[in-house]
Amino acid sequence: MTRNPLVLGIDIGTSGCRVLAVHPATGAVVDQESGSWTTDTPHPHWSEQDPDAWWDTTASAIGRLIERLPSPDAVHAVAFAGQMHGLVLHDESGQVLRPAILWNDQRTVEQCEQIHERVGRKTLIRHTGKPALPGFTAPKLRWVQQHEPDVADRIARICLPKDHVRFRATGIHAIDAADASGTNWLDLETRDWSPTICESLDVDPNWLPTVHEAADIIGAIDADGARATGLPEGTPVVAGAGDQAAAGIACGVVREGLVSVTIGTSGVVFAQMDHPPADPSGALHGFCHAVSGRWHVMGCMLAAGGSLQWWRDAMDIHADFDALIEEIADIPPGADGVRFLPYLSGERSPHDDPRASGAFLGLTMQHDRRHMTRAVLEGIAMGLNDMLELLRAGGHDTTTVRVAGGATRNPFWLQLLADVFQVPVETVNVPDATAYGAAMLAAVGSGTHADAIAAADAMVSVTTRVEPDGDDYAELRATWGSLYQALAPTMHRLADQSTIR
Ligand code: XUL
Repeated sequence: MTRNPLVLGIDIGTSGCRVLAVHPATGAVVDQESGSWTTDTPHPHWSEQDPDAWWDTTASAIGRLIERLPSPDAVHAVAFAGQMHGLVLHDESGQVLRPAILWNDQRTVEQCEQIHERVGRKTLIRHTGKPALPGFTAPKLRWVQQHEPDVADRIARICLPKDHVRFRATGIHAIDAADASGTNWLDLETRDWSPTICESLDVDPNWLPTVHEAADIIGAIDADGARATGLPEGTPVVAGAGDQAAAGIACGVVREGLVSVTIGTSGVVFAQMDHPPADPSGALHGFCHAVSGRWHVMGCMLAAGGSLQWWRDAMDIHADFDALIEEIADIPPGADGVRFLPYLSGERSPHDDPRASGAFLGLTMQHDRRHMTRAVLEGIAMGLNDMLELLRAGGHDTTTVRVAGGATRNPFWLQLLADVFQVPVETVNVPDATAYGAAMLAAVGSGTHADAIAAADAMVSVTTRVEPDGDDYAELRATWGSLYQALAPTMHRLADQSTIR
């Protein structure tokens, strides 16, 4: 055994990968690497990526990091986490059959309706914790079966994104219960595939990976994986988790009563539960947690950080987010009456509405880009607050919120979140929550900690706490809901006419 063991936590994200080398006992981040990839929109509402670009880019990033370590033997375990719900199809020889269909792809409205007709919406929610929504995996497979029968005929294996990358590194077809619960095929109580749902939806169980708990060792880096990454053959690999469950443990949300908000491309509100979620309305979506034998509920808005990024790119603003946010310090809360609805990718929570779209409202000649930037940040915060309201309505304690992702690096943004939510927000000692959560699972797999709860207690600590400063957003909160209600019919009409999306 090397004297300074390390673990690798790897995030297969929407815009790229991040690899963290972490000391498993202290949680210190020793080194990091990253890579990026692009998303294709070959048709309105579609969102696709090349799964082998994930692998090539990630293997190179791991390789660059391994080269800098004193010895590759220092790595005692590796875990992957990543974007959830995406459909990756392999043929018998392990070749990818078509581009991956991603979590924010909206083409499957019709297939969702068919799934509800076949299974029954209530039955589906009872078993899988959620209704069928275009983001989830089951309707995507159905779409391929109906629109690309030649592809469907050759399916030998189904993977989610990070499981495809791990398959390339290990040759093992596996998944964790957390990511598997984002498919609409997993039974939340048994934490395994539901034979009833799979049969009703024409899913051959042989296509599906073996389900593990997130910190279980599923195998090891094989010879091909070793050649591509520089990791020694035989390095243990754990199951890992979907990005939100990984980010949840990285925020320390490993006990009931804690809530996190993660702002990446999407924006997620997340709470742990000690028993399988049973909300028959399906407003909040239930999942198995990356903590063994625990569950969580979450709501996901599709364009949180994605809205800010869109705004910067669409306006051709060549500034980083901090510089953009610095411009708005003098604009008052409420953006002098400008509102932004953040439904740029359609919406999943709180509005299950693939045809929703973004909007600016309240503009006059007196407004400029600073008001609009402020309205974008406030619109994102209001979207997240809508989901906190859903948690409150479900009886969850939201008296403090742990924040992860983009906003944590900007004190102004953090204050804005505390002011909109009207509760204190906390940050933790974690640079990249998803990759760090994966590293925590690898730390459990390496034997350093007994479970994800012990790992969180040892590796995660609160670094900042920001209290609300007055209540400047009371009016915005009171009128927010009416904006979507008033505009939804127009959004739908425009979506039906649009040729780009
Ligand atoms: C969660 C979700 C997104 C993706 C991409 O349900 O769809 O957060 O995992 O990060």
